Amino acid sequence: MSVSKMTTATVLQAKGKKKLTMLTAYDYPMAKIFDQSKIDILLVGDSMGNVFYGFNSTVPVTLDQIIDHCQAVANGAKSYSLLVGDMPFGSFGVSTKQTVENAARILKKGNVHAVKLEGGTARVKEIKACIDIGIPVMGHLGLTPQSINKFGGFKVQGRTAEMAEFLLSEALALEKAGCFAIVLEAIPWQIAKVITEKLKVPTIGIGAGVHCDGQVLVWQDAFGLFDDFTPKFVKKFLDLSEVIKKGVADYKNEVENKTFPDTTSHSYSIPDEELKNFLENMEKKESKKLKDFV
Ligand code: KIV
Repeated sequence: MSVSKMTTATVLQAKGKKKLTMLTAYDYPMAKIFDQSKIDILLVGDSMGNVFYGFNSTVPVTLDQIIDHCQAVANGAKSYSLLVGDMPFGSFGVSTKQTVENAARILKKGNVHAVKLEGGTARVKEIKACIDIGIPVMGHLGLTPQSINKFGGFKVQGRTAEMAEFLLSEALALEKAGCFAIVLEAIPWQIAKVITEKLKVPTIGIGAGVHCDGQVLVWQDAFGLFDDFTPKFVKKFLDLSEVIKKGVADYKNEVENKTFPDTTSHSYSIPDEELKNFLENMEKKESKKLKDFV
C-alpha cells in the first residue's frame, strides 16, 4: 500500500490523532533511510554546525551551507517526509524583506517544503510576510540555540511562572502568525503540556516531555555519532560510533594482512588468453629493447 507524502496540511491534521516523528537530516544517504523509514518531518537543522561541522555552536552556519544540505536531503527523501530548512543565525531578524528573500532561496534552491526560524513575537511580522507569499513556517521556542550568547549557555527555559506565561504567549503569537507547527526545546514538560493543549497547531518537543504532539532529535545524538556534549533529553537509540569503529578495525586488519581484496569476489579479471598475449608481447618488447641496447 502506498503511503501519501507528508505536507504541512497533514502535519496539522495529525494533531490529536497521531504523534509526529521528526529527525534532523543533512545528507543524501541518511535522508533516504529516514524517508524510507517514514519519519514524518526531516529538518535540515542548523545543528549541523555542531554535529556535522564541529563548531561549538550553531551561530557560524551560513545560508549557503543550509541550502547545500537541503539539496542533498531533498535528493534522498523523495517519497514520504516533509522537508524543512532551518534559517541560520543572521538570515532573519535584520529586515522583513531580507527574511522573505532568504526563506524563498531555501525553498527555491534547497528544494524543501518549509522553513523553520527561532523566536516569538519579535519574528511575527517576518513570519507573516513569508506565509503571505507561500512559504510555510515552523516556529521554534524555548531554548533557541542561536541565542546561546544571550542565554549564556544551554539552559532550560520556562522554569518560573512568569517565564512559563511568557512562553505560552509567544506560542499563541506564533500560531496566530500562521506557523503550521512549533518546536518547543528544553522546557518543563508540564509547561509544554499546557502549551500543547492551548494550541491548535502541533507542538514538536525536544526536551519538552511526552505530551507534545511530536518529537524531534538530532540524529547523531539519537544514534550515537556525537558525544561532544549530551543534553539530558537525548536518548541514544543506537551506538553507531561503535558499529563504525568495528567496521573500520575489520577493514584495517584485512588490508594489512592482505585478505582484502581477494582475487575473486572484489577484484576484476582478464580472460586467460588475453593475459597470455599481453605477457608474451611485453616479453618480446623487453627482449628487443635489450638487443637494441647491446
Ligand atoms: O537545528 C536543529 O537541529 C534544531 C532542532 C534541535 C529542533 O533546531
